[in-house]
Amino acid sequence: MAFSCVLVTGATGFIGAHVVDNLLSRGIKVRAAARSRSKAEIMIETRPFAKSILEFVYIDDIAEPNVFDQAMEGVDAVIHLASPLNYSVADKERELIIPAINGVRSILQAAAKNNIKRFVMTSSFGAVLDMDREKNTPWKYTAEDWNPISYAEAADPSASPQDAYRGSKKFAEQEAWKFMAQEKPAFELVTLCPSMVFGPTAHPVTSVDTLNESNALLWRVASGVEPLPPARFNFWIDVRDLAEVHVQALLNPNAGGKRYLPVSSQKFSYQLASEIMRDNFPAEKDRISSGVQEINENVDVDTAPVTKDLNIEYRDFKETIVDFLTQAYLLETAK
Ligand SMILES: NC(=O)c1ccc[n+]([C@@H]2O[C@H](COP(=O)([O-])OP(=O)(O)OC[C@H]3O[C@@H](n4cnc5c(N)ncnc54)[C@H](OP(=O)(O)O)[C@@H]3O)[C@@H](O)[C@H]2O)c1
Repeated sequence: MAFSCVLVTGATGFIGAHVVDNLLSRGIKVRAAARSRSKAEIMIETRPFAKSILEFVYIDDIAEPNVFDQAMEGVDAVIHLASPLNYSVADKERELIIPAINGVRSILQAAAKNNIKRFVMTSSFGAVLDMDREKNTPWKYTAEDWNPISYAEAADPSASPQDAYRGSKKFAEQEAWKFMAQEKPAFELVTLCPSMVFGPTAHPVTSVDTLNESNALLWRVASGVEPLPPARFNFWIDVRDLAEVHVQALLNPNAGGKRYLPVSSQKFSYQLASEIMRDNFPAEKDRISSGVQEINENVDVDTAPVTKDLNIEYRDFKETIVDFLTQAYLLETAK
């Protein structure tokens, strides 16, 4: 499939910036949606080669009704990544769950009014994972699986921010599939449910203190915060591979109407991350956190559909860690 202009939301975020770069490297025109003018300006300044094919539109809050109407004009495909991913929130329902659901509703309504051919949405493995089943029962997750968490459980003030986030992703993705079934728009939906995403950043990051949530966990290990962060599951993907998954989900005619779980077939733990860091950055060895962390061999993910339909080859965890940490140490000293 070929597109004349792709609207990318969350373009100034960790994954979004890599998706933007992947599209630009193919000469595909990108209309990037951002809420921060200063981040958008940095993205433009650092991509002088893309002047003629990268433009920004400003969407202050994705959850506002009709907010995408103008941004959608002249666009024929959408990659929707914007969603709150921040565990330091005071009101989890208001700041995580409601904006995720309303954001999806608002952008799908705008897409249906325009000439959109394909809509790729970034959901999460959190929308798939069943924490209780995982503890004891051997299980291979497929695109048929859904996190059983109820709205009431996710929105309960006593829920952890992680559970509220996982709920937000489940309900937002279900909202998208419900919209497709009820409204039957002319475009095809593809949803992606990646697990933990790690790797070097391409979006504006001014210090190691402002890294995105998933890379911040790696930085905790690298900078010696004890103990190792808990790995609630051992699935991960490199951000550059995930950007390629997004673009293939857009371009590949066979992907339409499908739900994919982009997950490397190699499992990770923060113990493994720590060992790779120590081996590859011997000068920092003394401050890198260490600990023992088991990999749960009871659970797996069916990685075949992504590999087969989207033709993805995954990077090794070592490459991801080394590339991330090389950049993070430079960022730390540039402070
Ligand atoms: N990182 C992971 O491990 C992981 C794993 C699975 C799924 N995902 C999903 O991947 C997507 C991107 O995540 P990420 O890791 O790239 O996180 P991120 O760096 O925090 O990016 C999130 C993006 O969404 C934008 N955004 C959030 N709330 C918004 C709102 N209410 N209105 C307008 N824009 C809003 C942010 O804008 P600003 O740039 O202005 O902050 C940012 O560009 C999300 O849908 C997330 O759920 C991430």
